[in-house]
Amino acid sequence: MPSLAERYANEFPQSRARFERAKTLFPTGVTHDTRMMDPFPVYVERCAGAHKWDVDGHDLIDYFVGHGSHILGHSAPEVVAAVQAQMAKGTHPGACHDLELEWATLVTEMIPSAERVRFTGSGTEATMMALRLARLASGKPKFLKFQGHFHGWHDAVTVASDPPYDAATVPGVPEELAHVCVAVAPNDLNLVEAALTRDPDIGAVILEPTGGHWGAVPIRGEFLTGLRDLCTRRNVVLIFDEVITGFRVAPGGAQEFYRVTPDLTALAKILAGGLPGGCVAGRADILAYLEPRPGKPKMKHPGTYNANPLSASAGIATLKRIKAGGVCEAANESARMLRNQINARFNASGAKWLAYCDFSMVRVLPNYAGPRPLPEMADNEAPVPFDGDVNRLDGPKNAKQVHALRQAMLLQGIDWWGTAAMTSCAHSTADISVTSGAMQTAIEWMAAEGLA
Ligand SMILES: Cc1ncc(COP(=O)(O)O)c(C=O)c1O
Repeated sequence: MPSLAERYANEFPQSRARFERAKTLFPTGVTHDTRMMDPFPVYVERCAGAHKWDVDGHDLIDYFVGHGSHILGHSAPEVVAAVQAQMAKGTHPGACHDLELEWATLVTEMIPSAERVRFTGSGTEATMMALRLARLASGKPKFLKFQGHFHGWHDAVTVASDPPYDAATVPGVPEELAHVCVAVAPNDLNLVEAALTRDPDIGAVILEPTGGHWGAVPIRGEFLTGLRDLCTRRNVVLIFDEVITGFRVAPGGAQEFYRVTPDLTALAKILAGGLPGGCVAGRADILAYLEPRPGKPKMKHPGTYNANPLSASAGIATLKRIKAGGVCEAANESARMLRNQINARFNASGAKWLAYCDFSMVRVLPNYAGPRPLPEMADNEAPVPFDGDVNRLDGPKNAKQVHALRQAMLLQGIDWWGTAAMTSCAHSTADISVTSGAMQTAIEWMAAEGLA
């Protein structure tokens, strides 16, 4: 029997050929770190709904959903129509336009903390802006983040995003910049309080509100409530990075679901309906640092693609559909079904794997023998595996195992995101049941090679 790697190489020859060329063009051969795969990644030709088709003609059920930006599924008809109509009118007027008003109005109507909005070119730019505004509002240079929380790739936030979490800096980031970031283990209010006491230069706390890397170490609501109280008490700006969770967990993001109001929110992905774009939304008095005012510093903010009309048109079409209801619920329900079906199969076969995570997000965890969730458990109720230990849930991965799982799923027509997945409202019950069956088969194939 050929190995998984051999079967994969044989069944995806067109992708393999393209990667030979890619290696001569791009460092590592890919254009985003998470697309690296041994021996080569898959090249995709077109996408629709919850599916995509690769250059070898495979029909794949997609769980990348545009890195989380497609909660409606790919190429939703209203998004395609809106973008085509705007394309004909112009992609960049170099001026103010009506769509930015409509887009920002939707943000203020949907996101509970959004009194004012400023559009950016990406989620990375949004977290960078939020931290800079927080610095101006607090008058303090440093911020606190949590190990394993990802906030894009600008200098200081890259500290402690990935293991080893205690590294003082990351390659390419000067130490003096890295030191404006203080990182602590997630989900422990005592650690936050101690860090704020130790370091009076910390003026902001930033986090992914459902947990780092969208819930690898899930956060439970009471932590968010406690953190809000602590930040208010200590006069520290609380920033929710809802680049993934915004418009996904609920129409108003995790802050709506958990009823916890941050001072600032970074948004992107679904905000721009699958096109590039982001924004900072939040307290009017903090976003006022973008305005020239007597006796106050003004934060400069240019940006060629801020509030780009194509992104605005896709974003408006997407947000309107989410606001009308049913979208987040459908995506959440698909992921809940997927987690339950996968766990039922793991339980029946005795596989030492667990499917977990909340809302429309799914992760599978190897080597797990602890308490298991009950199928009827709601989001925020299932036990947090390994007592929330960031090193075991989000720590160094076995790359061989991750690639084998990805290949085993691709061989069955499923593009699963390493050990994780996100759903859209376009995933059908048939997609979910095919996927859970494929997961069991994947684990069996991997076990045969000593990788599960
Ligand atoms: C939570 C979070 N914040 C920020 C970012 C950065 O967004 P972008 O890739 O648009 O720069 C991401 C991207 O995946 C993210 O997941």
